[in-house]
Amino acid sequence: MQRLLIDRFGRKHDYLRISVTDRCNLRCVYCMPEEGMEFEPEERLLSFEEITEVVRVLAGLGVRKLRITGGEPLVRKNLEQLIAMLSAIPGIEDIALTTNGIFFASRAEKLRAAGLTRVNISLDSLKADRFSLITRGGNIKRVLESIEAAYRMGLAPIKLNVVLMKGLNDDEIEDFLQMTVERAIQVRFIEYMPIGHNDEAWKARYLSLSTVLERCEQRGWKFAPSENVYGNGPSQNYRIEGALGSFGLIHPISDHFCETCNRLRLTADGNIKPCLYWSHEFNVRTYIGDKQAMEDLFFRALDIKPQNHEMAQALMNEDQSHNPTERRMSQIGG
Ligand code: GTP
Ligand code: 5AD
Ligand code: SF4
Repeated sequence: MQRLLIDRFGRKHDYLRISVTDRCNLRCVYCMPEEGMEFEPEERLLSFEEITEVVRVLAGLGVRKLRITGGEPLVRKNLEQLIAMLSAIPGIEDIALTTNGIFFASRAEKLRAAGLTRVNISLDSLKADRFSLITRGGNIKRVLESIEAAYRMGLAPIKLNVVLMKGLNDDEIEDFLQMTVERAIQVRFIEYMPIGHNDEAWKARYLSLSTVLERCEQRGWKFAPSENVYGNGPSQNYRIEGALGSFGLIHPISDHFCETCNRLRLTADGNIKPCLYWSHEFNVRTYIGDKQAMEDLFFRALDIKPQNHEMAQALMNEDQSHNPTERRMSQIGG
């Protein structure tokens, strides 16, 4: 009988997020410090062959969906080659990419040909100068071109990720919603998370996503939950009456979704991370080549996966009994 990745709380894990690099060509204010960070030396990253081997074992345990993340995944050379290797693994049905969109347009065709099925693109502002401020130097034109390229390639549904920050981009909520009225796109508002930096700056910028629904109502838009957006993630989806697109809320802090968590993470330096928030990680590199030992490692990782991250209470109360991850988002891959 096939062993499946079911944890103590009955959650079935069929989705793996693979970070292929901790490097990024941008420095978004909510993700990386301005001076950058100490990056993993290239030789510490899992090779494409090693990643493929890990995925092959996980596919044998029921993993069907992959998401490639970073840092920025497109700064890893020859990513197309990895995607082709992963899409050849029996059982893998969906290979998605989360990117900042700066390098995507010129590579969309090759990525699609290699087996990419979907793309989520980060875009935190629709204003060029503000986009540049948030990303510390990014050019919005390139992201907009990437969105068009994703359309041309038919990589639907195209999703835009907007991290909502008080005083920085919350005055653009209506503009993003208007975009969903006009285009077949899914805009997802993401609650700003204090990953690896639970500091005053986070507290000052954090905004609950209930704000989005309030603004939608104030504007007089009628909206309702929408069940038909394809995805493997934690987004709660809605559609404005008559809109071509839809919008989603990803709110791990104010309304966490751990009950239905279906994912494991593989870090660029070769660790399996069962929960985004906590520090537990299991080094998989030494088990490559020993399928049985690797399978056992995955089940050990699942055994300690917490029921939920109790984020709000633990962080707001500065509770010391938990051990939050010290990695920044770019080192985990979101
Ligand atoms: P699909 O639904 O498959 O399109 O993907 P997704 O929404 O899971 O992927 P994406 O990489 O676009 O993630 C969007 C946001 O959700 C990012 O900010 C992630 O950090 C966040 N996110 C994804 N998975 C988790 C999770 O397990 N826990 C938390 N707290 N946040 C997550
Ligand atoms: N809080 C919420 N989302 C974040 N992301 C990166 N850092 C944070 C954070 N601190 C988002 C990016 C990208 C996704 C992978 O994670 O905007 O869309
Ligand atoms: Fe780079 Fe993404 Fe982090 Fe921005 S959020 S700095 S694009 S890894």
